[in-house]
Amino acid sequence: MEKLVIKGGTKLKGEVTINGAKNAAVAILPATLLINGECTIENLPNISDVQISCEILSALGAKIEWIGKNSIKIDTRNITTTNAPLDLTSKFRASYYLIGSMLSRKGEIQVGMPGGCNLGARPIDQHIKGFELLGATVDVSQGKITASADKLVGTSIYMDIVSVGATINVMLASVLAEGTTVIDNAAKEPHIVDVANFLNTMGADIRGAGTDMIKINGVKELKGNATYSIVPDQIEAGTFMLAAVASRGDILIKNCITKHLESITAKILEIGGNVEDHGDSIRVWCNERPNKASIKTLPYPGFPTDLQPQMGVVLSTANGNSRIVESIWDSRFQYTEELNKMGANIMAQGKTAFFEGVDHLVGAPVYSSDLRAGAALIIAGIIAEGTTEIYNLQHIDRGYENIEERFRKLGANIERVKE
Ligand code: EPZ
Repeated sequence: MEKLVIKGGTKLKGEVTINGAKNAAVAILPATLLINGECTIENLPNISDVQISCEILSALGAKIEWIGKNSIKIDTRNITTTNAPLDLTSKFRASYYLIGSMLSRKGEIQVGMPGGCNLGARPIDQHIKGFELLGATVDVSQGKITASADKLVGTSIYMDIVSVGATINVMLASVLAEGTTVIDNAAKEPHIVDVANFLNTMGADIRGAGTDMIKINGVKELKGNATYSIVPDQIEAGTFMLAAVASRGDILIKNCITKHLESITAKILEIGGNVEDHGDSIRVWCNERPNKASIKTLPYPGFPTDLQPQMGVVLSTANGNSRIVESIWDSRFQYTEELNKMGANIMAQGKTAFFEGVDHLVGAPVYSSDLRAGAALIIAGIIAEGTTEIYNLQHIDRGYENIEERFRKLGANIERVKE
């Protein structure tokens, strides 16, 4: 077992380059199953979710060649089975994208119930609703999802709830369907636009991604034979922006799309931080104690739920009393118990957490409950007085490439050690 050991009290300073977006990569990789050919994908983050996705695609018959640390050439001409390996698919959330992709490619799929971060109930009813409206039959039993369709026919689908996964999955199931599909009340996250751009590069006809109405005109097949580069990770960029504010440091975040960061920038300016927007990079610095804030997480372009724990660390040592309302997930405040072990004063009740800003945090052994909570605990350890040990690193490694090395380059005293 490994742990991170952090000696705190550092003001993070320097430059960091943002990787490709995890939540785009884990959708674009299964989307390659729609291609009867090969393609090249660049700017892939080298994280365990991507590695598992590649293992699953290989098990289905795809040929994958790594060309460099962050690029692959993938040939999906020869898909030999429609049974995804259950042990792998239950390891992460995005395995459900295999359903939309394989319904389009092969008309059938069996996959384990998706895993992923423990954020409370994570139903997939909107995914299933979309597949059934397109003409598929879906069965969920004994921890498996079995879906099949003789033919997929385009139709209008209204999403009862704004869902990133369901929006992408229905898009994947519509690309090769007969006729036109309209997804209404669609999610608008940058990674949804990236999946649509990837599919259109490979020959699909998708319009309106990034708005709440997406129109997909079914095409006969996707040729591939193209190269696509994954969009920079909005959440990773936001993580480093908030680390700069929490540590009273000064960080230049390179290779990002600042348009995707507007809600984070607005909140940082509101609490007294400073931001310089250079279009494809952004400088964030903070010289004094931030002021209190009230945050509500919302679908894009609102404040992202995936940056809620990191903002929680900023507010735990801000001036005055703050509040966060988590409107997306039922249970995304487990990290506050860990921060309280470090001297924070947070009371979480259901979907709301109240923060009474304290002067400083104190190092302690803490446990990461999910990917973004893990990132938040790293920031907390960097700003705390004394030494912090962080366990359950598997969560963090799912979504952040070489996280300790990148914080070390910003001045953090952080080591990964074998327990
Ligand atoms: C994606 O999860 C991300 N994961 C999550 O990021 C992120 O928190 C979430 O979108 C919201 O932005 C990936 O992209 C792999 P949703 P997803 O469907 O697609 C409800 C991270 O840290 N809902 O947008 O599973 C659901 O319960 C991870 O990178 C239904 O009710 O999220 C939630 O309340 C954590 N029925 C809300 O919608 C459904 O069929 C939004 O969920 C689907 C969702």
